[in-house]
Amino acid sequence: MNILLTGGAGYIGSHTAVALASAGHAVVLYDNFVNSSRSVLAALQTITGAQPVCIEADVRDTARLAEVLGSHSIDAVIHFAGLKAVGESIEKPVEYYSTNVQGTISLLQAMQATGLHSLVFSSSATVYGDPQYLPIDEAHPTSATNPYGRSKLHIEEILADCARSDASWRIACLRYFNPVGAHASGLIGENPNGMPNNLMPFVARVAAGRLPRLRVFGNDYSTPDGTGVRDYIHVMDLAEGHLAALDFLTHASGWHAINLGTGQGHSVLDMVRSFEAASGKTVPFDFAPRRPGDIAACYARVDKASDLLHWQARRDLATMCQSTWHHIQSSST
Ligand code: NAD
Ligand code: WQD
Repeated sequence: MNILLTGGAGYIGSHTAVALASAGHAVVLYDNFVNSSRSVLAALQTITGAQPVCIEADVRDTARLAEVLGSHSIDAVIHFAGLKAVGESIEKPVEYYSTNVQGTISLLQAMQATGLHSLVFSSSATVYGDPQYLPIDEAHPTSATNPYGRSKLHIEEILADCARSDASWRIACLRYFNPVGAHASGLIGENPNGMPNNLMPFVARVAAGRLPRLRVFGNDYSTPDGTGVRDYIHVMDLAEGHLAALDFLTHASGWHAINLGTGQGHSVLDMVRSFEAASGKTVPFDFAPRRPGDIAACYARVDKASDLLHWQARRDLATMCQSTWHHIQSSST
């Protein structure tokens, strides 16, 4: 199939491009590089052996999108493009709603104009808010506590309305848990601009000596060791989940929300210990107060992905940490 990846130069998009290319699909990246680097294109060429096709443009440019969908005979779209930093979304809500919600509406208009109806959307476990029970299944009530999460919820609802209005739509909203790790080559991975917000890139930079110490936000949660528990999933497993979702949409119509996680929870201290084992380095840390807005624990029920997509995560915590370590050693950020 010919697949358009909006936000395809980003962290998850670039890994998905590799998984799609190795399964024989033709991939077109569409990205404005607001949160990624053009150097990803050379890395993708080295990994896949082919020069990636990349359109540099904004998802809010509906006319450009429609032109690209038509000229590349696109069969399905994976919509990664968006802004994703929770704290920044509280400071800049208009930018977040514009990029995430307006960007998705622009994509839907371009798809409607070209008669294309297969869409995989990057949603997030953030749509579950503070979990009422664990593991979290897809029937868990949804809520949002910040503009980023609310943008994902709005988009999911807009997509569900589309599917209700027209039976041609085939839409999978993939609710990612905590993506970490990197491609085995080390050539692509997560490269946050400035100070990392997320745990794994921060731990990696401390292990590499680029940041002095980790702050562990909270050691008084009601979890086994008092630190926050999350469902960390290897980004290549996540990438393969998109392949499975595209396959699913070839025979399923309507709107589907599906968790992509491992089903396992790991604490901040579990992550620190695993990273120390993978890197052979010490990760010095201090306990700090809880981070505002954080929840104690969050992990997925993964039966729906297994039943509908015939997909499950295969890579363990050691592989997640080893690949992150390999990537950070081969990158300068
Ligand atoms: P990323 O920032 O690395 O990738 C997003 C890409 O979209 C970047 O390359 C960026 O340049 C591009 N982009 C942003 N605005 C654009 C615009 N207006 N037009 C065109 N391109 C634009 O982020 P990621 O971690 O790869 O996340 C991909 C998607 O998955 C996002 O929608 C994010 O909200 C979602 N998600 C990410 C996580 C996570 O922890 N990484 C978890 C759940 C959901
Ligand atoms: C994980 C754990 C922290 C940094 C966020 C978004 C979510 C989704 C994924 C997009 C928590 C602790 C972290 C640090 C720490 N993104 N931590 N010290 O908060 O689960 O999810 O990214 O959709 O929407 O909210 O991930 O990696 O930030 O934190 O102790 O320096 O690590 O408190 O327990 P989170 P995270």
